[in-house]
Amino acid sequence: MMSNQIKRIAVLTSGGDAPGMNAAIRAVVRASVYNGIVPFGVYRGYQGLIEGDIEEMHARSVSRIISRGGTILKSSRSEEFRTVEGRKKAYGHLKAQGIDALVVIGGNGSFTGAEVFTGEYDIPTIGVPGTIDNDLFGTDYTIGYDTATNVITDCIDKIRDTASSHNRLFFVEVMGRDSGFLALRAGIATGAIAVMLPEENRSISELIEILETGAANKKTSSIVIVAEGESYGGAYEVAKKVQEQYSEYDTKVSILGHLQRGGSPSCFDRVLASQMGVYAVEALLRGDQGQMVASVNGQMKLVPYEVAIKERSELDAELRRMSRILSI
Ligand code: F6P
Repeated sequence: MMSNQIKRIAVLTSGGDAPGMNAAIRAVVRASVYNGIVPFGVYRGYQGLIEGDIEEMHARSVSRIISRGGTILKSSRSEEFRTVEGRKKAYGHLKAQGIDALVVIGGNGSFTGAEVFTGEYDIPTIGVPGTIDNDLFGTDYTIGYDTATNVITDCIDKIRDTASSHNRLFFVEVMGRDSGFLALRAGIATGAIAVMLPEENRSISELIEILETGAANKKTSSIVIVAEGESYGGAYEVAKKVQEQYSEYDTKVSILGHLQRGGSPSCFDRVLASQMGVYAVEALLRGDQGQMVASVNGQMKLVPYEVAIKERSELDAELRRMSRILSI
């Protein structure tokens, strides 16, 4: 579709919510209005699209949401959108409202859906990476990652107080289904003795060696951060295996869970989301489609969906090395 034919742009949030999604919605709505485009909000992600849960928005519909966590448009993980019939219904509702382009704010699964949809129908889509996991290839940061690492850091600082009062060893489980970005960054920020990452497959004996070195170096309490996707199956499993061999450790487990997805977005996430939302609208107006907005060295660019979702984001090897040096 030629850019000058775009008159109506819809925006939706899909998959796990992330702090900063509201700032991105606001940016899409305001950049649309600024360019003379009528913006629409789709509620409940792809499921709402299938059910026609769509509403026209205005510059004032997004007032005072930049500081709010979650997503005012709500989100879902739609099984029906994976089906040909589901996507056909979604297309029908967009057409019925005269909507000619779509901005999808979400993560891996959301862009997989967008890629298929873009291939099937004449509705250009642009993705905006919104996930706390930071696991999309081609962008330095995803919206929500910074806030989530701040929340995790705050929680672990609190756990640290009680861990040190009782000379305890805490296993703290953080999110990140398939990737250790949250765990690694939080590990450095909180001074964790070790981080168990899906990318590393560290063995229990290696972990015990690290704990023993710590004890020999007069550490009286320690925090081990366990990414939920690591190979032993999470913090309870890792703690159990350590306890089997070292029953003298007074161990506790803390699963941070969905706390990590909540809260007011950080300044960083608000600015990133604003930049990405505006860029998404401008990309559509330039005639781009089928790509995700990415932030690389502070500059916005586009990355094809298939690259963003199929390539694996590597953890920073230098950060991993550093985390080991600092935990002695
Ligand atoms: O993808 C974001 C994420 O928070 C993952 O870190 C986590 O594994 C997953 O979503 C949890 O999803 P749900 O809220 O649907 O249980």
